[in-house]
Amino acid sequence: MQILHTLPELDAYLERCRQGGTRTNAGHTNIGLVPTMGALHAGHRSLIERSRQADQVVIVSIFVNPLQFAQNEDLDRYPRAHEADQTLCKAAGVDAIFMPTASELYGMEGGMEDLDLSKVTRVVPPVDLAGHMEGRSRPTHFQGVATVVTKLLNLVRPTHTYFGQKDAQQVAIIKRLKADLHLPGEIVVCPTVRAADGLALSSRNRYLVGAQRQQATVLYRSLQAADVAFRQGARSVAQLIESAKAIFSTEPNATLDYLALVHPDTLKPLQVIDTVGMVAIAATINPNSTRLIDNIILSDSQDERLRHRTPIIAIDGPAGAGKSTVARQLAHDLGLLYLDTGAMYRALTWYALAQDVDPEDESAIAQLLPHCKIQLIANIQEDRPQPPKVQVNGKDITQAIRSTAVTELVSTIAAQPAVRAHLVRLQQQYGQKGGVVADGRDIGTKVFPDAELKIYLTASVEERAQRRYHDLETAQTNQPPPELAELTEAIAERDRKDSTRAVSPLRKADDAIEILTDDLSVQQVIAKISDLYQQHALSKT
Ligand code: PAJ
Repeated sequence: MQILHTLPELDAYLERCRQGGTRTNAGHTNIGLVPTMGALHAGHRSLIERSRQADQVVIVSIFVNPLQFAQNEDLDRYPRAHEADQTLCKAAGVDAIFMPTASELYGMEGGMEDLDLSKVTRVVPPVDLAGHMEGRSRPTHFQGVATVVTKLLNLVRPTHTYFGQKDAQQVAIIKRLKADLHLPGEIVVCPTVRAADGLALSSRNRYLVGAQRQQATVLYRSLQAADVAFRQGARSVAQLIESAKAIFSTEPNATLDYLALVHPDTLKPLQVIDTVGMVAIAATINPNSTRLIDNIILSDSQDERLRHRTPIIAIDGPAGAGKSTVARQLAHDLGLLYLDTGAMYRALTWYALAQDVDPEDESAIAQLLPHCKIQLIANIQEDRPQPPKVQVNGKDITQAIRSTAVTELVSTIAAQPAVRAHLVRLQQQYGQKGGVVADGRDIGTKVFPDAELKIYLTASVEERAQRRYHDLETAQTNQPPPELAELTEAIAERDRKDSTRAVSPLRKADDAIEILTDDLSVQQVIAKISDLYQQHALSKT
């Protein structure tokens, strides 16, 4: 990984990359740019991952841009973490970090002793986009952003530049900037990455100490309240914003800056949601006034929802094809929620046990369903996939659902049609927001027939038997593994049963892409699906 400090270093590096491309692939070297201000976290990393899948060269810029901070803001205090940033970039496969000083980027030709920012040319975005929301509290902020982004795009001339939906107003302004000034390349917008409790990741979260970290979740909780109201039929700004405010007001340590309902592309304030709306929030957490922002998209129209939602990846296929391993790792790499359907069945089983209900008693279990509110929350960690956190009625049971008692009874509960119907509905609710990876044997055909990317992951019976044999052999149980022939027959039998059963038989959806994994490693399968996901995401921008 190269560290580039100066403009000539950057130029020379880009020149080498572009020449390299001429030799290896006829001049088509995609260059991806991820502009950041450093103090990198998994949100930034998701942008890097997206670029890594689409571009041969990934450049991350790290520059705490003085022009976008007002006098009274946190420029001096803004977290700087050069070493950790470099470690994260290296691990994520970044090719070069561009980290100029302010005088390198803003200094005038001929050299200037003292950098005078009041003398630099600025790019001023239109007031209809930049004058409200963030722009009201931070009147010169978006000039600073537009100026530095214009410079970076002109300097790097990337094929794709990646931004996060978390800063939705920034995204709308940059899209207009690119169109109005004919800046090079495509703008790619990536979904907001959140911590397990919903808090959008942000470099400024580092300012939160002690109880403030929990208090900060009030932004997300308020947005969720608007989302719930929307699902229950609320469409007017008054209804939606009131429901969010009702939750916000329960947190005495947070001060609201704004809660706005606007169109996500034009940022025009909306009175009602006809097709699509964005609820955006900004608030400070006291006493040290950490300012945080967040947003969600609400939409009635299936088309709009699909356009704005992060894609769903549905992975089906026969038992033993490696679906869940692949799904977990993909969700981690792409910053999506792994829809752990197994955990949902376990959560219900845990609840039945906690309520002392006999798992065999189908009607008693059916009566429990409306009282068991299951939540899966993505648990984003830097380095390795983690199962999502699981809550029932607000109580964390992530560990508890792995108990032997639950393991022994889960299949009894999972076989009940009422349970299945209930959990499929719940899974579909998760799907409405998009951004999930789910695996199963009817995910693409039944649960998410409108998934943007459907994969049918399969392997020959012999290969799956081999893998199973290998797993059992290395499992270090006291029992010797069964004969390979026996396993092969069992897998063939399971396939027959799965594809002929009356309820949701296993079949490949017509629009699913089949991947035969016999000669592929897990990493190769993941790379293939990531590429397909990337192509889909780019076709939407
Ligand atoms: P910074 O706050 O460092 O963010 C860099 C990029 O990461 C932005 O596009 C931002 O939207 C994205 N990002 C931050 N948190 C995210 C999250 N939780 N999920 C997904 N993406 C996230 O935004 C800036 O820097 C600056 O304004 C910049 C564009 C670099 C110009 O100086």
